[in-house]
Amino acid sequence: MSRPDLFARLAQAHAQRAHEDLLRRVRTVEQVDGPRIVVAGHALLNFASNDYLGLAQHPALREAMLQAAARSGVGATAAHLLGGHRDEHAALEEKLARWTGRERALLFSTGYMANLGVMVALLGAGDVCVQDKLNHASLLDGAHLSGARLKRYRHAEVDSARRQLETDAAAAALLASDGVFSMDGDVAPLVELAALCKKQQATLMIDDAHGLGVLGAHGAGCAAELAPGDVPLLMATLGKALGVAGAFVAGSAALIDGLIQFARTYVYTTALPPALASAASAAVDIAHNDRERRACLHARIAQFREGAAARGIILLDSTSAIQPVPIGASAAALAASRQLEAAGFYVPAIRPPTVPAGKARLRITFSAAHSESDVAGLLDALARILPRAQEFA
Ligand SMILES: Cc1ncc(COP(=O)(O)O)c(C=O)c1O
Repeated sequence: MSRPDLFARLAQAHAQRAHEDLLRRVRTVEQVDGPRIVVAGHALLNFASNDYLGLAQHPALREAMLQAAARSGVGATAAHLLGGHRDEHAALEEKLARWTGRERALLFSTGYMANLGVMVALLGAGDVCVQDKLNHASLLDGAHLSGARLKRYRHAEVDSARRQLETDAAAAALLASDGVFSMDGDVAPLVELAALCKKQQATLMIDDAHGLGVLGAHGAGCAAELAPGDVPLLMATLGKALGVAGAFVAGSAALIDGLIQFARTYVYTTALPPALASAASAAVDIAHNDRERRACLHARIAQFREGAAARGIILLDSTSAIQPVPIGASAAALAASRQLEAAGFYVPAIRPPTVPAGKARLRITFSAAHSESDVAGLLDALARILPRAQEFA
């Protein structure tokens, strides 16, 4: 008998990725000062972080974390249901529910786990899960794990979603979409999706990892302008605009009661450290109230888009803090990223399988912590580097 060797197979897949210019690489960031980082001894301006409001190093968050750690230590010591649920978690859940206009909210340790937990709690064999083609991996993985039939629709095309629902008219259905698409930066057609779901008696789930804190009058995210009933299942993360870590699901009291029983990634894992919940609470206060900070982020985004148009730089159609520059070939995207790094800018190349084949890009993200001259410097560097790189975009 001769079985395939798992490590040999992994090594072969690794070699294949390297051959196709698709190898991913871990870089160690040695110093961080807002958007200024040091990598391998080189000072770089970071245009890759999801710290959209520049809160990750904010004094109020540090203070909240330190005080909570001084009060109750570091770890939660147990799962939420077994003594790990602390005052800090309860207060944060209440605050998140109020902010997003939902009855209740439930914390998860990561966004990935929140999405898996929701899907497994709600769906099973015989159900259908309809998803945008460009949804985040955690939504797709959650659907696979649930055993439901996963049906994907063309990016942001509501008619395509309708067709997928109609071909499975009798099955219980969840339609899940990123709110702001993580690699493209555009916002899902929420109003149309909500109307479709109502008509098709499907449940709409929106993952607003990249909209919370950035969009909506009070930063409550991409769905802030819709009625809570239009988006009955809202998930968002605390590790992006809020600058901390973790995630939550917000919705009706009945939904949250059900998730507490059946979301396995909630039940069978250690609760988020309470000090992180405390820091996230401080972040919500700022994200909710500090309009200037959000206005500053949007001013940088507008400056970038106008500057790019003036320089003939092609961008995707995005109004969010995620501003991808399409390149096409993986090797060209990698080369552009390396040239930017040599010029002092950290902008990773995003390549398949994170994005579809032939759609490699530079994923540029903005933060309220960037200055006008930071953005101007990036535009100048892009203008020097891109004329050749974007030829085939
Ligand atoms: C749309 C989306 N959903 C979920 C996640 C996962 O969140 P987390 O990093 O908290 O696991 C991410 C990114 O990480 C994301 O971009």
